[in-house]
Amino acid sequence: MKLSILGGGGFRVPYVYQALLRDTGSPRIEHVVLHDIDEGRLASMARLLAELAEGHGDAPKVTATTDLDTAVEGSDFVFAAIRVGGLHGRTCDERVALDLDVLGQETTGPGGLAFGLRTIPVMLDIARRVKALAPHAYVINFTNPAGMITEAMQTVLGDRVLGICDTPSGLGRRVAAALGVDGSRVRMDYVGLNHLGWMRGVHHDGRDLLPELLADDDLLGGLEEGMVFGRSWLRDLGLIPNEYLYYYYFNRDAVRSIIDSGRTRGEFLVEQQTAFFDRVAREDGPGAVSLWRETVANRSASYMAEAKADHAAGAAATDVSDPEEHGYAQVAVGVMAAIARDEPVSMILNVRNGTTVAALPPDAVVEIPVTVDGRGLHPHTVTAPDLHQSGLMQQVKAVERLTISAAVTGSRSDALQAFSLHPLVGSVTVGRQLLDGYIARIPQVAAVFDR
Ligand code: G6P
Ligand code: MN
Repeated sequence: MKLSILGGGGFRVPYVYQALLRDTGSPRIEHVVLHDIDEGRLASMARLLAELAEGHGDAPKVTATTDLDTAVEGSDFVFAAIRVGGLHGRTCDERVALDLDVLGQETTGPGGLAFGLRTIPVMLDIARRVKALAPHAYVINFTNPAGMITEAMQTVLGDRVLGICDTPSGLGRRVAAALGVDGSRVRMDYVGLNHLGWMRGVHHDGRDLLPELLADDDLLGGLEEGMVFGRSWLRDLGLIPNEYLYYYYFNRDAVRSIIDSGRTRGEFLVEQQTAFFDRVAREDGPGAVSLWRETVANRSASYMAEAKADHAAGAAATDVSDPEEHGYAQVAVGVMAAIARDEPVSMILNVRNGTTVAALPPDAVVEIPVTVDGRGLHPHTVTAPDLHQSGLMQQVKAVERLTISAAVTGSRSDALQAFSLHPLVGSVTVGRQLLDGYIARIPQVAAVFDR
């Protein structure tokens, strides 16, 4: 089978290729096409993957191109993880908001809206090319903000596009490990939007184990979410939120700590990745793979990690393995294998709501447990969200839809409503300043309204 990876020069591509190398099933991916607009990064990535393939007799062939149609044509699967405006765009997403004392984050809050505004037109174009050149392909989208982007692409591709994120499956894995049960035998009662979801039950052999976890000081304190949110708040809620809910439940603390840290996540990554790609391109020193491993090992220095450290108050981290080893690449390759080989598997994915969550429109994309097999996606029934959960989901979904509409039509009014109605913004005055700031700082956002 042929897999095209859009954003082929991206930093997590080696994880995807490693997952493909580990995959021994049949049929499998025999040809990987990397697509990127940056030729230098493409060349470096192709070299890195060739190094990874050494010693694997049956490694998937890798080619690279800057031409989208060449990449997509005849693909069985398309992985999309692009960043329109690059990491510089990400730092603007963060800084424009922080300068107004509002959360500046890649996907959550106004930064995610600015990211979505400029990304939607590009992803819609990709969706149309896939429809024309690879009509049977499934698109597995990691491009953030993943829920919003997947929802926009569904208007072209229907159920042939689904969105993935590593955070719900990571939460499921951590919870199963804490409870000492086999994760594949657990039924997670999870509902939400991407980066805005809640684990309300952990069913194993007909019993919900979540109350036990919430009651146990040691288990809960050792869990990442126990550190991020604090045990008592999880007990008050009676559930475990997705880690991104930190930005809602501890909004002021998060804004303060990012501002005080003096450097945003995007600013850190610009430095780190520029250094990495420069060194690989110079070809002096160690091989690309060891440079990459060294770089990813130093990646956890994020403000989320700092926030966690704050809450951990001395608690020892229990998991020292590279979390990305099982992260989004594993989810993506798992989805692909389930479809291609008709081997049913349950995963938490971003899919069309249909009738699953009555509080949301049928064509809204939601993040819920789904069974994937050769016939496609089959959403599970979930417990109805409570008022807090459905209220927050509805508000954020309204904002996402205004953003999609602004990106498609160029309506400033829709964009202004999106920024102003976002629950983490809190003022129309600030909404206006955000929109003006993003237009001034990011050319691809300006272009949305300039037509
Ligand atoms: C998690 C999220 C992704 C997000 C990433 C950011 O994996 O699920 O959606 O893009 O974190 O990581 P970074 O290292 O770029 O800050
Ligand atoms: Mn994610």
